[in-house]
Amino acid sequence: MRRKIVAGNWKMNTLLQDGMELARAVEQNTRESNGEALVIIAPPFTHLSRIGDLIGEVKLAAQNCSSEASGAFTGEVSPAMLVSAGVEYVIIGHSERRTYYAEDNQLLNKKVKLALEAGLKPIYCCGEVLEEREAGKLFEVVEKQVTTGLEGLSAADMKKVVIAYEPVWAIGTGKVATPEQAQEMHQFIRQLLVGLFGDGVADDTSLLYGGSCKPSNAAELFANPDVDGGLIGGASLKAGDFAAIVNAF
Ligand code: PGA
Repeated sequence: MRRKIVAGNWKMNTLLQDGMELARAVEQNTRESNGEALVIIAPPFTHLSRIGDLIGEVKLAAQNCSSEASGAFTGEVSPAMLVSAGVEYVIIGHSERRTYYAEDNQLLNKKVKLALEAGLKPIYCCGEVLEEREAGKLFEVVEKQVTTGLEGLSAADMKKVVIAYEPVWAIGTGKVATPEQAQEMHQFIRQLLVGLFGDGVADDTSLLYGGSCKPSNAAELFANPDVDGGLIGGASLKAGDFAAIVNAF
């Protein structure tokens, strides 16, 4: 059965000391939680190896990785480097990477494959922008993102992949998808996975919702049959809010 997962994407927030404090609080809250969800945090690169020592059962993710394995790529961080720093998951294809750094589906597919080869578990993000939703193109856009981003993966690879649906219009805007909108797209993505990889993979893949998920709306989002948890931005920076979301199942 697929896992319930709550992952906190800290984005470019916290200095090292604040980050370590936040991580300690997340670890303590997780230890005291009802234990249903797998908890993941994605701090900035600079914090990863220090935070890895503080978080017990909480899993460590990076927010991005290089599409290249090693060599003359100034400023890049390879998947193997992340593994060597104790990282287990990596967010790939977040809408901020797609929008501000022009990362397209082909490049993201390269990253997903390289991450898997290095032993990382990708959290692959997809989601439409507002104009695409309003033009009725949301399913077409997400289908392309999922199909191209996961192209060439085997059913065995897919055991390590988590998918996050993040409607871009809901990220950091305070606007949240309704539970019906979230369920509709999650169900669509699961059907896509049936076509691409078969029923087993589709059933077992955790699909997370992202976009202004917070303590006040997490329970109704997570109550949907195809919503297996959340990728949390803003609310993951407050240990209390993040814990409330972790306990919202
Ligand atoms: P948000 O971000 O929760 O601040 O909307 C979600 C995300 O980008 O992962």
